[in-house]
Amino acid sequence: MILPIRAYGDPVLRKICQSITSDFPGLNQLIENMFETMYESNGVGLAAPQVGHDIRLFIIDTNAFSDKKIKGVKKIFINAVIIEESGVEWGFEEGCLSIPKIRENVKRPPKLIIKYQDENFIWNEESFDDMAARVIQHEFDHIEGVLFIDHLSPLKKQLIKGKLINISKGKVDVDYKMKFYFKK
Ligand code: NI
Repeated sequence: MILPIRAYGDPVLRKICQSITSDFPGLNQLIENMFETMYESNGVGLAAPQVGHDIRLFIIDTNAFSDKKIKGVKKIFINAVIIEESGVEWGFEEGCLSIPKIRENVKRPPKLIIKYQDENFIWNEESFDDMAARVIQHEFDHIEGVLFIDHLSPLKKQLIKGKLINISKGKVDVDYKMKFYFKK
């Protein structure tokens, strides 16, 4: 089932998300729906708050980014903790399904070590680099209530302010299912 993606302005995107246990109701269905929703909107990552759940869950599939030489990473991250980030920060034009039509250069370290539970609630500790690391960092930010625009300079933030207000009011054309939070 395709879920509506919460747009910028929805308070759920600013929540510090809660850890979950394996008895979280409907978890397998939620994960399945999140993959379907992510593929439908051509995303490479999706975090639970983007579909209205303030829980520490995100998924990634970087295959759309990968060329034939490097295999993409498709994974489910539950209760993730970033252990270490390292290397010289590199910039990339990021976007976010919750912030349509805005892409900005964000600098992030190229390597990370992350601890997380998989869909069977088995703990894993793994290192990632390059694009997989970037997508994980972006999605991990979501479960901490952080958005990629928070990483921009004050000047850049000022420049996109009007667009952000429009998104929060639903004044943006999107070709996937979104749920807008209308300010009272
Ligand atoms: Ni995002």
